[in-house]
Amino acid sequence: MKLGCCYYPEHWPEDNWADDARRMAEMGLSLVRIGEFAWSRIEPEPGQLVWDWLDRAIETLHTAGLAVILGTPTATPPKWLVDQMPDMVAIDEQGRPRGFGSRRHYCFSHLGYRKECRRIVTAMAQRYGDHPAVTMWQTDNEYGCHDTILSFSDAAAARFREWLQVRYGTTEALNEAWGNVFWSMEYRSFDEVDPPHLTVTEANPAHWLDYRRFASDEVASFNLEQAEILRAHSPSRDITHNFMGFFTEFDHYDTARDLDVATWDSYPLGFLEQFWFGEDDKRDYLRQGHPDIAAFHHDLYRGVTGSGRWGVMEQQPGPVNWARYNPAPLPGMVKLWSLEAMAHGAEFTSYFRWRQAPFAQEQMHAGLLRPDGKDAEAAHEARDAAKIIGEIGPQDAAKAPVALLFSYEAAWVCGIQPQGASFRYLELIYEWYSALRKRGLDVDIVSADASLEGYKMVCAPTLPIVSEELVAELKTLDCPVLIGPRSGSKTESFCIPDGLAPGNLRELIPLTVSRVESLRGGVAEAGDGFEVTRWMEQIESDLTPEVSLSDGRGVVFKHDHVRYCGAWPDNALLTRMIEAMAAEADVSVAHLPKGIRVRRSARHLFAFNYSNKPVMFDLTGEMIDPAGVSITALSR
Ligand code: GAL
Repeated sequence: MKLGCCYYPEHWPEDNWADDARRMAEMGLSLVRIGEFAWSRIEPEPGQLVWDWLDRAIETLHTAGLAVILGTPTATPPKWLVDQMPDMVAIDEQGRPRGFGSRRHYCFSHLGYRKECRRIVTAMAQRYGDHPAVTMWQTDNEYGCHDTILSFSDAAAARFREWLQVRYGTTEALNEAWGNVFWSMEYRSFDEVDPPHLTVTEANPAHWLDYRRFASDEVASFNLEQAEILRAHSPSRDITHNFMGFFTEFDHYDTARDLDVATWDSYPLGFLEQFWFGEDDKRDYLRQGHPDIAAFHHDLYRGVTGSGRWGVMEQQPGPVNWARYNPAPLPGMVKLWSLEAMAHGAEFTSYFRWRQAPFAQEQMHAGLLRPDGKDAEAAHEARDAAKIIGEIGPQDAAKAPVALLFSYEAAWVCGIQPQGASFRYLELIYEWYSALRKRGLDVDIVSADASLEGYKMVCAPTLPIVSEELVAELKTLDCPVLIGPRSGSKTESFCIPDGLAPGNLRELIPLTVSRVESLRGGVAEAGDGFEVTRWMEQIESDLTPEVSLSDGRGVVFKHDHVRYCGAWPDNALLTRMIEAMAAEADVSVAHLPKGIRVRRSARHLFAFNYSNKPVMFDLTGEMIDPAGVSITALSR
């Protein structure tokens, strides 16, 4: 694994560049990402392209032996461009324009803006496409950051209507699919259909689901336009995009199909603070991040391109600026996060950012260097990581025993119609992932249309819409399969299937979900040593339940190798199911102490101590320091 950093030569006097580059190389870094926000310096006036500074910046990095990842600058259109076409900005759900003065102020559907993007990307690719320093391109920056996937602009509405026409052909078919007879919502022409916002009460969930599918396709086609230009003018260079954490607003599998390498931006402390974690986790893992946050995304993004190639484009180096509270990492964590990425198969980890900027929005965001240019704490840890990486050599990701099925469409369905406020897709997936990892299992997170051949256990926490292809794939397996609540509960057009849930999954397990209920916080249904919260299904079946509540209601049903869990399980119930499956599959599980996680590469067993105390790691008999990493060569 290589190490790198994100660098903004346009933020610093040119006199500093050579020294910065020299210090990067000295620190053990060999990659630098630049350029992704530099449009106003590349083209200060319409049509006036100023390359000399960027030529010199790239040359300086190259001379120091650093490879360059060049970002296309389309996340930050300059002021003159927005003034030229004010309708290029996205419109929010309340109908307000998302104006100039920060970033991502564009609508994916605006054809004029797309043309401008093609123009600037072509110019950059022609200029630097065969530069020996440029080894990779990054398209745009964090599609969707700051809630920018959905736009309700005229441009989006027009393209949505075209999208619907292609999908349905006739308005009769559209009305039938959506069930528009309900509340007299029928349309006579595609021109009558608006985006699903500003309605008096909720819009039709089928309307929303198609709007989300459409918006997701817009991201993929926007990205593809750039990828095609880069491939034409910069052959044999890799193309990536930096995806985000806990983000499901567009289908990453669709966009990643046109990339060579998936990358993501890892901010474990910011994510712990901003997401659903309980007060105990926020306290216990304040300076480490919850032990599964980074690994979850490593395992997710390793699976999005199909090539298995991935990296960390932005690694948190110290306190960030954007969470409610922004603590500093425990000493050792920056090194731990770096080595953990390697253990999960990353090609590189790049720290965000080289030097903390003393100006503008992110002036409180740490870098490897302080604003005064002295080493910040993370600089020492990057050096340590570089040394260890050099010592243990390349790590190939090994195929994990467990496949966890992930679906962006499932996230949209749960979000559009939660039915219970706490039924949150990412949280459910994460809890299942976490339960597997606590038992020491390595996990591949895969799409619902991936091949499942060779896995020893398959888990689908929830898949409201199940394709016939997936049913056929599951039928070919003889390993244990665990399917979670609400699976098969909707058709492709967001209706309850004939014969009720779990729809076509009934071909695998004979049961019917006859009623569902959601439970408010603090309410739990008790079983023997476990609890069900949030969601409970009433199941009709001739099968005898494998696990029931104390009052006899069945929760888990099993038929051949397939289990169905009709509830939101707690960790105890999940663990019970995982252990049963592992025993059937002859996969060994471990009982890891709190805060410890393990990961096997092809050659090493890694153990990471996410707790703030030393912990005895039984598998090797070693005491691991807080934020410590133990690395053991596996005998072949
Ligand atoms: C990312 C973004 C970077 C920077 C960073 C700060 O979301 O890609 O440009 O803003 O966050 O943590």
